[in-house]
Order: sequence, then structure tokens, then C-alpha cells
Amino acid sequence: MQELRLLCWAVLLGLGQACPEPCSCEEKFGFQIADCAYRDLEAVPPGFPANVTTLSLSANRLPALPGGAFEEVPLLQSLWLAHNEIRTVAAGALAPLGHLKSLDLSHNLISDFAWSNLHNLSALQLLKMDSNELTSIPRSAFRSLRSLRSLQLNHNRLHSLAEGTFAPLIALSHLQINDNPFDCTCGIVWLKTWALATSVSIPEQDNIACTSPHVLKGTPLSRLPPLPCSAPSVQLTYQPSQDGAELRPGFVLALHCAVDGQPEPQLHWHVQTPGGTVDIDSPNVGADGRALPGVPPATGGRPRFQAFANGSLLIPEFGKLEEGTYSCLATNELGSAESSVNVALATPGEGGEDALGRRFHGQATEGKGCYTVDNEVQPSGPEDNVVIIYLSRAGGPEAAVVAGAGPGQQAPGLLLLGQSLLFLFLASF
Ligand SMILES: *[C@@H]1O[C@H](CO)[C@@H](O)[C@H](O)[C@H]1NC(C)=O
Ligand SMILES: *[C@@H]1O[C@H](CO)[C@@H](O)[C@H](O)[C@H]1NC(C)=O
Ligand SMILES: *[C@@H]1O[C@H](CO)[C@@H](O)[C@H](O)[C@H]1NC(C)=O
Repeated sequence: MQELRLLCWAVLLGLGQACPEPCSCEEKFGFQIADCAYRDLEAVPPGFPANVTTLSLSANRLPALPGGAFEEVPLLQSLWLAHNEIRTVAAGALAPLGHLKSLDLSHNLISDFAWSNLHNLSALQLLKMDSNELTSIPRSAFRSLRSLRSLQLNHNRLHSLAEGTFAPLIALSHLQINDNPFDCTCGIVWLKTWALATSVSIPEQDNIACTSPHVLKGTPLSRLPPLPCSAPSVQLTYQPSQDGAELRPGFVLALHCAVDGQPEPQLHWHVQTPGGTVDIDSPNVGADGRALPGVPPATGGRPRFQAFANGSLLIPEFGKLEEGTYSCLATNELGSAESSVNVALATPGEGGEDALGRRFHGQATEGKGCYTVDNEVQPSGPEDNVVIIYLSRAGGPEAAVVAGAGPGQQAPGLLLLGQSLLFLFLASF
């Protein structure tokens, strides 16, 4: 205790040659160097002089770097941590080291790395993270490393890398990414293209190779054959009736999102009603319309919005509460696409108001299952299509018209959105 207090005083007064007991500290060429390598350490020892600029903790047995691990030494410029047993680097472990230029974390067991640590390291020039167990790197991981010249990520477990991962590294001249088990799907094609075009030196290109799929195992990325890849596109259509049966209140509105893209995009629905927002990962029901495991069912085992694997969204009890904007979003490794439709309810002759508060009224076009509005509500763009569902009285002429919209026929109600405004009439009451 007495010793510790003395030590503290020494540090505070900037007098002493304070140094943690297992380490040796010295000044050389204007640098304050603390050498704690090969000491069997299991934690970063306390008691460094605050002006340490170089700290070696290589070849110890550190199991993790907790937040604040280096807060005693904020002026560090070089930190050597290779050959430890580090699995986890917590948020805030390295972030205070805004002066750091060289960081060696290679030959550890890191699988859990808080990438936010790098966002403050704008002076960093050398980053060695090779020979660890990293499985992924977020796209924005390197966004602040404007001074980084050398990056080593070889011998990890990276399956893929997001396009643009290296784009913020404007000073980069050396990159090692060989010996990772890359999954050679569409998501990696950019890396081949980028590696061929960049002026960054990338050694051992033959060892930047595919591990999967099986047919490409061992193929160097530079010799990857062209893959059939395309970003998603979507086309949103709708149908007033599922089966052409008589249309009545609580009818089924069917939206269909036709998705294109390779690899097959993931589909997601976003529903904005006056009552709130609903996000649905498609599918949420099986082919029978019953909720898939893990999806909370609404009534009778069927969710309020049924998203089928084939891209259809059925709203079985369409009513005033279901008015709103329906968007389908398709995403794959190459990008995403979205299409929206705005659905509103109306009464014949009286018109109505859509969820955005815009007034409209309509007129029936003789002999057609849909009705164009005399244009008071215009879509404000291709993403703002308006579908107006017109609740008419029973026995009205409209009923006969729409009842013909069966699935076997060229359903007049199944229209490509992106046209004018549409009224759908249905018999009710
Ligand atoms: C670091 O501080 C010590 C006193 O604690 C001083 O003797 C030394 O010169 C300083 N070194 C550097 C590089 O500033
Ligand atoms: C970032 O680095 C600066 C020193 O350059 C430091 O003062 C600051 O506290 C650091 N920020 C975080 C979040 O640690
Ligand atoms: C998708 O599947 C559902 C349930 O089987 C069906 O009702 C719907 O008509 C299908 N959509 C298309 C476009 O085939």
C-alpha cells in the first residue's frame, strides 16, 4: 500500500522512473518504451508512466482486452500484442489511443472484436490482425483509418467481405487477405474486380481462394469464372379478390411482389398504417396461410398480414385499419430494390381520403374491373402508387364486373402498378 502510494506520487509528479514491476521501461531516441514481452502476463499490469509511447505485451497470456485496458497510456503510438490468447476486444479497449500508429494483434484467438475501437484511430498506419478467428468485418469497420498504410487480415475465418470495405483506406499500400475461407458467391465478385484494378499491393494472390461452393474449392479469386449475378428488381401488383368469389366486407386484398435477382433476394414487407408500422420478414406463413413457428398468429392461427414464400402478401380482413402504404423490399448481396403502393378505402359517389390525407373521388369506367380516378390524387412518383378500394352497396353494377376477376382468367383487377390511379369496386353490405 505504502509502495503503491509512492508510485502514484511519482507518476503524478512526473518524477520517477515508474514502471510496472514485471516490465522494463526505458527512454530511447525520444520514445518512452515499456517492454513487457514474454512475462506470462494474464492482464495488462498497472503503473505505467503516462508518457509511454511504445508498449510491448507480445507473447504473454492475455485472454482479453477489456474496456479501458490502456487508459493509463493515452499517448501510445505503438502497441504490440501479438502471440497472446486474446479472444475478445471490448468496446473502449483501444478507442482512447488516438495517437496510435502501429497496432499488432496478430496470432491471437480474436473472434469478438468491437470494431468501434477503430473509429477513433485516425493516426493508425499499421494494423496487424492476421492469424485470428475473425469471421466477418462490418462494411464500416475501417471508415476512420485515413492514415492506414498496411492492413493484414490473412489467416482468419473470413467468408466474405462487403463491397467497399477498403474504400475509406485512402493511404493503403499493402493488404494481406490470403488464407481465408472465402465463399465464392456473387457477394465476393467485387473483390476480384477491385483487386485487379487497385494499386494496393496484395501479395499471395494465389492463396486468396475459394473454400466454397464445392465446385470452386481451391480456385484463386483472381481466376474466378463469371458468376450469374444480378441486383434485385421488384414489381408490385395487386388483386382485389383471391378466388373470384363474391366480394364482401372483410375481403382479401392480395399484393404480389414479383422479385428478380441472383442470388435469390430476401423479401421484406413494410406496412405503414395510421395505427402504426408493421415489418414482416417474408415468409411469415406456410402455404396453408398458417403462421410459421416463431411468428405470433392473430386470429385462427393466421397473422393479420400473410406473407407467402411466393411473394404474395394477403390481407384477409381488409378494413379501415389496413389503409396505408405497403412496401416490398428485396435484398441480396448485390443490392436492394423497393416498390410501394398506397391503399385507401372509399364509398362510391362520395370519394374518400387516402392515408396521406389526400381527397379523391371516382368514376366507373363501363365494362372494366377497375376505375380510373379523375385525377385529384396523382401519384407523386413511381414509388407512390395509389390503389383505392371502393366499397359499394350490394347488387350494384360494379359487383358483377369485379366478380369476373377470377384467378384462372386474365384478372382485370391484376394490374401493374405504376399506371394511373385505380379504383377497385367490390360488392358489400
Ligand atoms: C517521460 O516522463 C519521464 C518522467 O516521468 C521523463 O523523465 C521522460 O523524459 C519522459 N519521456 C518522454 C519521451 O517524454
Ligand atoms: C479519441 O482519441 C482522443 C485522443 O486523440 C481522446 O482524447 C478521446 O477520448 C478518444 N475518444 C474515445 C471515444 O475514446
Ligand atoms: C402465393 O401463394 C398463396 C398461397 O398458396 C396463393 O394464395 C397466391 O395466389 C400465390 N400467389 C401467386 C402469385 O401465385
